[in-house]
Amino acid sequence: MRGEEFIDLKYKPKDDLICLFRVEPASRVSLKEAAANVALESSTGTWTNVKRTKTADKIRARVFEMKKNGMLKIAYPSALFEAGNVPQILSSIAGNIMGMNVVKNIRLEDVSFPKSILKGFKGPKFGIEGIRKMLKVKNRPLVGTIIKPKLGLNWKEHAKSAYESWIGGCDATKDDENLSSQKFNKFEDRLSRTLENANQAEEETGEKKGYLVNVTAETKEMMKRAQLVEDMGGKYVMIDIITAGWAALQTLREADFKMAIHAHRAMHAAFTRSKEQGVSMMVVADFARLIGVDQLHIGTGIGKLEGSIEEVEELSEEIENKNVKSTKLRLAQKWGKIKSTLSVSSGGLHPGHVPFLIKHLGNDLIIQMGGGLHGHPKGSKSGAMAARQAVDAVMENIDLKEYAKDHEELRLAIKKWGYFDKSLRYRKY
Ligand code: 3PG
Ligand code: 3PG
Ligand code: MG
Repeated sequence: MRGEEFIDLKYKPKDDLICLFRVEPASRVSLKEAAANVALESSTGTWTNVKRTKTADKIRARVFEMKKNGMLKIAYPSALFEAGNVPQILSSIAGNIMGMNVVKNIRLEDVSFPKSILKGFKGPKFGIEGIRKMLKVKNRPLVGTIIKPKLGLNWKEHAKSAYESWIGGCDATKDDENLSSQKFNKFEDRLSRTLENANQAEEETGEKKGYLVNVTAETKEMMKRAQLVEDMGGKYVMIDIITAGWAALQTLREADFKMAIHAHRAMHAAFTRSKEQGVSMMVVADFARLIGVDQLHIGTGIGKLEGSIEEVEELSEEIENKNVKSTKLRLAQKWGKIKSTLSVSSGGLHPGHVPFLIKHLGNDLIIQMGGGLHGHPKGSKSGAMAARQAVDAVMENIDLKEYAKDHEELRLAIKKWGYFDKSLRYRKY
């Protein structure tokens, strides 16, 4: 068989990047042949034999584990990669191989970086500890909101909605993924007024308030906007990491602004959603942490977006733990000096979901509600109060319905949307 040398079931990876693939060979192709083709095309080989060099031989990828169900582990010697270059790594391990005819389906489930690759990256500047310090919140989950309607508010209305959310109890308010600098809501106007309101809310409440302003744009423009946020004293920038692209995210992180980076993952599902084909969200999360986002949307397991709670739990461990254990679809990873990334749950959430989220994802979490906060019968401020009350209730181990007896905002929220009781049964109020 051609490509035999790319399969070495006795190989012991050392300074290698490991990939876990699930492969379904095309009809009349053996798993072994498909596996060899994946390893060769993603490293040093091509569809026919060409003259080999010593280096090419040495740095070739090796399939070192192959299971009948199509699960493959492939080791990539780190010499295949340029230090600190995420697009180059992805062009190898998730490049041409995603569309080869010898495989019917191929999914990159997880990747594990060796020390030598970790060294090329900064990782998160703040990490969970840094974020908690910045916002002065010790133990409880953070409460955030996405200003809604996502598009259509002018900058004054946007800033006012953020202010109401903050004084109601939100720690953070954020722009939505598709808000940047439209005619009806220019970036600079929105930024300056919203930051002013953050300061005012800080004075009034005695709490720290973060504004996660979306700087996603063409790279040079994005950097200008990020600089402006820093100059105006902002604590955060937000970026849509998939649509802006990995190189743009690296540029933003490498600039080493004094601000935390909040990462939105819009469009990830285009290639993560299928269980047979594409690249998993786990891999997206790995690269996001490696480059250095401080906060990442990982799903909810319960709201409006796909993804089971088990998957979300595994993602949360992947980005928050120092040492990650392997599971069926996850490789072990020692993160070394790379700090943690804080999990963000967002998408279709309301205060009634809070017991479920904290139970499954713990206290190191940002719970973000857009519609579930601004859609409160009494408006954004009451919505924020209800969200914060739900978190307080869970922290005090009190059932939401019980807590709502003397917290009117929470009562109205769970009356509208329902809630999880202490045994995590979903109930109508
Ligand atoms: C490409 O970049 O298009 C491929 O690497 C082409 O290589 P091949 O002609 O050897 O398949
Ligand atoms: C997000 O960006 O995560 C969503 O816009 C959340 O909005 P929702 O809470 O209204 O679903
Ligand atoms: Mg959104």
